[in-house]
Amino acid sequence: MLRNMHLSAAMKLLLSLLVLLLAVSSATVAAPPPSSVIVVGAGLSGIAAAKTLHDAGIKDIVILEATPKIGGRLSKVAFAGKTMEVGACWYFGGGPQHNPLVDIANSLKLNTYPTNFGNLSSNTYKQQGGLYPKAEVDAALGAGAARAQFCTNLSTTLNSNPRSDQDVSVMGAYLLYKQVPATPLEMVVDYFNNDYIDAQAPQLTSVKHKYPRHELVDHGVNFNYVKDPRGFESMAYHIADQFLKKGDPRLKLNKVVREISYSKKGVTVKTEDGSVFEAKFAILSASLGVLQSNLISFKPEFPMWKRVAISDFSMATYTKIFIKFPHKFWPTGPGTEVFFYAHQHHGYYPIWKHLENEYPGSNILFVTVTGDESIRIEKQSDEATKAEAMEVLKKMFGNNIPNPDAILVPRWWTNRFFKGSYVNWPPRYSHEQFQHLQAPVGPVYFTGEHTSEKYMGFATGAYFSGIESANDVIKCLNRKICRAH
Ligand SMILES: Cc1cc2nc3c(=O)[nH]c(=O)nc-3n(C[C@H](O)[C@H](O)[C@H](O)COP(=O)(O)OP(=O)(O)OC[C@H]3O[C@@H](n4cnc5c(N)ncnc54)[C@H](O)[C@@H]3O)c2cc1C
Ligand SMILES: *[C@@H]1O[C@H](CO)[C@@H](O)[C@H](O)[C@H]1NC(C)=O
Ligand SMILES: *[C@@H]1O[C@H](CO)[C@@H](O)[C@H](O)[C@H]1NC(C)=O
Repeated sequence: MLRNMHLSAAMKLLLSLLVLLLAVSSATVAAPPPSSVIVVGAGLSGIAAAKTLHDAGIKDIVILEATPKIGGRLSKVAFAGKTMEVGACWYFGGGPQHNPLVDIANSLKLNTYPTNFGNLSSNTYKQQGGLYPKAEVDAALGAGAARAQFCTNLSTTLNSNPRSDQDVSVMGAYLLYKQVPATPLEMVVDYFNNDYIDAQAPQLTSVKHKYPRHELVDHGVNFNYVKDPRGFESMAYHIADQFLKKGDPRLKLNKVVREISYSKKGVTVKTEDGSVFEAKFAILSASLGVLQSNLISFKPEFPMWKRVAISDFSMATYTKIFIKFPHKFWPTGPGTEVFFYAHQHHGYYPIWKHLENEYPGSNILFVTVTGDESIRIEKQSDEATKAEAMEVLKKMFGNNIPNPDAILVPRWWTNRFFKGSYVNWPPRYSHEQFQHLQAPVGPVYFTGEHTSEKYMGFATGAYFSGIESANDVIKCLNRKICRAH
């Protein structure tokens, strides 16, 4: 009798376990039905890709975005009562080629102000203070322009033989030209011509692939600075509004993708909160920095050609540090908005801009640092950064300047959803390797600024790449013409 009692209790336990098991497995079955395409990331590239799919009639899509908002590296922060663009702040116009972002800005009536970099010979400060004589800066700017021309010429030569992989760093080109920037003045001018665009030092940049600067050659040198409370990110929202209804269930925010399993049959995507999504294809728009990190695991692991292409490319970091003061102590007349600080240490708080044109009376300055300096500054406290910036400002403007009210130090490199600001093309990384970086692995396609050969590092690169990778998937889905490695 006692024995039987025990048995039935055990049976009951077993039964309830079975019920639990069934419940768990039916919960898994209750995952959303498979879609055609899962887009990972709702930055400019992911949103442009999703809209392209939708417009082509592929409407069963899911967009999984890790953060609470779309736009990714188009990102604004409220600071001192104004809107600061901590990610991209300029889009480019006035060139021979049409920039679709200009159209988007126009239809949004986006508020912008053109940045004038044309007056630096009057605005360059010495390490210990005082302005350089105009003629001296003009000479340095002229020498910088000649070095840039040499790099462009060399790039043309290197690119003229399609079978050769020969390449050289920008610094290597200077050695060839026997003109290496050495003084603080020469270095800050060179910083403006290179690091300020590439977000890395000239030793780390390919001449063959970064000269000329296609974005500026094609789309123009009008730097349109976004000074709109809706932010640069409103461009991404504008595209999204054209195909996503309000509260459209196809856009899922706060969904951090942690695992992508793939096979010939399709993809299974798992997020940090335990959700599972299935589709025929994935379009992955996470940055190169994210791909180089462990955030997303791929099952099976990507083939060696893909892993090498990812690990050998460079994710750079570009940081705009915003500082708010109780009052102005810098010149604000015409042609003063950008000023240089020339220091013996390459890239030490080098390029400053006031926001008096964009936000009159705001008393905000921002200084741009890049590469190793960005990483160093991300690792230290904001107080330490404030102290360094103040020391530099005191050299330029004297000791009687006020303490800042606030400082904003973005941390793109630390952020696990970005791991840097944008890519730079390292010397001797070949065109063929770049094709590996772009190429899909089975049903997993890649998009984002890092896949745009011409406009990497720019918002246009993200936008165009989103459309292109969606078109690759559409071709594969509809006509079975599939891009392969
Ligand atoms: C500081 C800075 C300054 C810049 N300045 C300019 C400029 O002035 N002009 C210009 O043209 N360009 C500039 N750029 C470059 C431009 O911002 C980028 O090229 C562009 O925004 C990148 O878009 P994207 O779609 O490729 O990537 P992202 O915007 O990074 O979009 C990818 C999305 O994927 C999400 N994500 C990442 N991991 C996961 C995951 N595991 N699961 C789900 N979602 C994930 C991210 O949150 C992000 O929203 C700047 C960038 C930075 C950072
Ligand atoms: C670059 O090439 C042009 C045209 O061939 C030439 O006139 C110029 O001198 C070259 N410049 C440099 C710095 O090599
Ligand atoms: C350049 O700067 C000087 C000194 O600040 C100013 O007087 C001049 O108007 C500026 N020129 C241009 C073209 O902006």
